[in-house]
Amino acid sequence: MRMYDIIDQKKRGNELTKEEIYYAINGYVLGDIPDYQMSALLMAIYYKGMTDEELLYMTECMAKSGDMADLSNIDGIKVDKHSTGGVGDKTTLAVAPIVAACGGKVAKMSGRGLGFTGGTVDKLESIPYMQTAIDEKRFFEIVNKLGISLIGQSANIAPADKKLYALRDVTATVDSIPLIAASIMSKKLAAGSDKIVLDVTVGSGAFMKSIEDAVILAEKMVAIGEGAGRETIAILTNMDVPLGISVGNNIEIIEAIEALQGKAPKDFQEICEVFATTMLVLGKRGTEKECYALVKKVIEDGSALDKFAAVVKEQGGDESYIYHPDQFPRALYEKEFKAKQTGYIVSMDAEICGKTAVILGAGRETKESTIDDTAGIRFFKKTGSWVEEGEKIAVLYSSDQKKLEDAASYLEKAYIFGSEKPEKLKAIYAKVYKDGVTYL
Ligand code: URA
Repeated sequence: MRMYDIIDQKKRGNELTKEEIYYAINGYVLGDIPDYQMSALLMAIYYKGMTDEELLYMTECMAKSGDMADLSNIDGIKVDKHSTGGVGDKTTLAVAPIVAACGGKVAKMSGRGLGFTGGTVDKLESIPYMQTAIDEKRFFEIVNKLGISLIGQSANIAPADKKLYALRDVTATVDSIPLIAASIMSKKLAAGSDKIVLDVTVGSGAFMKSIEDAVILAEKMVAIGEGAGRETIAILTNMDVPLGISVGNNIEIIEAIEALQGKAPKDFQEICEVFATTMLVLGKRGTEKECYALVKKVIEDGSALDKFAAVVKEQGGDESYIYHPDQFPRALYEKEFKAKQTGYIVSMDAEICGKTAVILGAGRETKESTIDDTAGIRFFKKTGSWVEEGEKIAVLYSSDQKKLEDAASYLEKAYIFGSEKPEKLKAIYAKVYKDGVTYL
């Protein structure tokens, strides 16, 4: 077999065999296939796409390139959740404790921030003493004891994806739907859960800018999950505006605590309840109606919040912060951000909002950057609100006063004001199952 022929086949739009796909991916991971040949194959895939079969082979091969977590030591049905990335996306932090409080099992391995999108692990580490680097034995023990553990993804999960992602990043092949689907699902298959709920974000702060593309990506990921024997559902959510009102690290933990108490901003609260319900249905805890009632109950009776406090304590964190979030340190410096003109906020570019949070210190500008746990933005008025010129619409936070000015002028570019009220934004657009799409 020759890599040259594999590239040539794909360039012509022909379907690759399982053996050819394994040859290319394994050869690349081992270093036998050079970057320039893999780059050519990636670009051919970018233009010619992949069939569902090719995609399943590629994803399984990428998953098997590193550790395949075996969660069989954890009792019950393990349900994973994954987001394709967003701004202000703290959903896992609330959904996982809600599901566990309802009797579900969540063995969750999360990532750090990537580009302008925040990461669950960075957010969790803003809770004093919270540990996310936990070995497998202890991880299983915690899930068996509490129904939940939230840890960082091990370094050896899908190394093929790490190598391919780095190459895609410099060869203009990141925004390929099959390549995104394989990248995300390789990590999900390696993470070992029985069932998967995917949050496919759509809009200015997401990889997928249109609902049509998001549906295609969702269908591909659902097909991979189902093909690999893991029941999978994807939910399309709005990422045209930041989710909730907080973007940062400790301020997002505070907002997740509000969701666990039923007091979060409406869009975020709705998304948490829908995801938790869907995970419980997949975990066979009842019908959709029964699972939704369970979700409401654990929020109302405080057991969802208690579950979050319990997992924080078990992983070394100071649980008192969960019950008294006013203890979280505030940023040393704050700056009010005011509306430039009177009118409706017609749109807010969520990617610019996310990049502003990175400038403030909430994310990494270089691999060596350290995260400022207190940095971020709170948006008091979002798309659709009427605002007066000079009205405070957001507050920027940072430990570095110099960053506030840069960030504020960058954030100006995110807003469009106008005299016509924009259409009301939906939090959730659609659900994608193996046999079809339901638009909401
Ligand atoms: N997230 C991933 O893990 N991979 C992609 O390719 C895009 C988003």
